[in-house]
Amino acid sequence: MRKDVILITGANGQIGSELSTALRELYGAKQVIATDIREPKEQNTPFEFLDILNIERLFELVKKYQVTQIYHLAAILSATGEKKPKFAWQINMDGLFNVLEVAKELNIVKVFAPSSIAVFGDQTPREHTPQDTVLHPSSVYGISKAAGENWCQYYFKKYGIDIRSIRYPGIISYQSAPGGGTTDYAVDIFHSAVKGKHYTCFLKADTRLPMIYMPDAIRATLELMEAPKENITVRTSYNLASMSFTPKEIGEEIQKIIPDFTFSHQPDFRQEIADSWTESIDDRIARKDWNWRAHYDLPATTNDMIINLKKKLFESSPIN
Ligand code: NAD
Ligand code: SER
Repeated sequence: MRKDVILITGANGQIGSELSTALRELYGAKQVIATDIREPKEQNTPFEFLDILNIERLFELVKKYQVTQIYHLAAILSATGEKKPKFAWQINMDGLFNVLEVAKELNIVKVFAPSSIAVFGDQTPREHTPQDTVLHPSSVYGISKAAGENWCQYYFKKYGIDIRSIRYPGIISYQSAPGGGTTDYAVDIFHSAVKGKHYTCFLKADTRLPMIYMPDAIRATLELMEAPKENITVRTSYNLASMSFTPKEIGEEIQKIIPDFTFSHQPDFRQEIADSWTESIDDRIARKDWNWRAHYDLPATTNDMIINLKKKLFESSPIN
């Protein structure tokens, strides 16, 4: 077992609830401190309440547990962010600053602070989006992530803090629910399909977006964080690719397994956010620097999601 003590912010969210389990397997249960403003739904211990805007509490917890690494996941995602722009800016920026300041003052060894495909905008090349490209995001979430990437690089260059980051694509998962993003439809559609319900997608049929299955996203995170420091050439945030598909394509993939499944489209305000993002990602630098390779494509993801979501919804609880 490794000796580090890890603190996760936003640990009860879509990524945090699965990343905490993966980190506990690697580091030992007591070495991973889950924190959030929400009570964990399932056992996620040790757990401490932490509002990321409360820097004194963050200092206190890092000292109390002698934390050596921080995984900073607390954030407001794209769709919620558009409804509450100032609030999203405050949580995403002040929250990140608090983590960076504590990392600087208390000599944290490594920080993980994810970014997103939301940093791209309508002037960014839409296909095979390069690592270094035009970043003029149009959502408040994307603006905060683009600024955050640059602050991470600043703290690395100025103070030598080993901060690492991935521009996650939309994440598909069955264990944990997504938290207010534009890519959430790619999880919601599976819930409707396995429950035998019609799904009305909030994006148009042909809206192509980069996506990734949670096991690949978790593995990418761990592989990046384990890579030797000298291999890390990107200190803003790494492009990461896995698969890209449209709502029509994922719906048809589900129909191959659940032929009665039906879906339609009723675009809402999230369409504009999705239209400003790109379709596919060039991740050659992540592949070169830390040997990144995705394992799940759309058919493999669909198959695994349906098997596991059925188990979760219909086998684990007698109520369902
Ligand atoms: P999520 O919304 O599911 O979880 C975020 C967690 O942060 C929640 O549990 C919430 O309670 C917590 N939180 C909110 N405000 C807080 C505060 N003031 N103090 C402490 N905790 C607070 O998000 P996620 O999908 O798990 O995303 C984690 C990170 O990954 C975020 O930075 C997000 O931008 C990034 N990301 C996610 C995706 C995705 O598809 N899920 C894609 C790209 C990037
Ligand atoms: N999945 C996220 C969202 O839709 C992208 O960062 O907000």
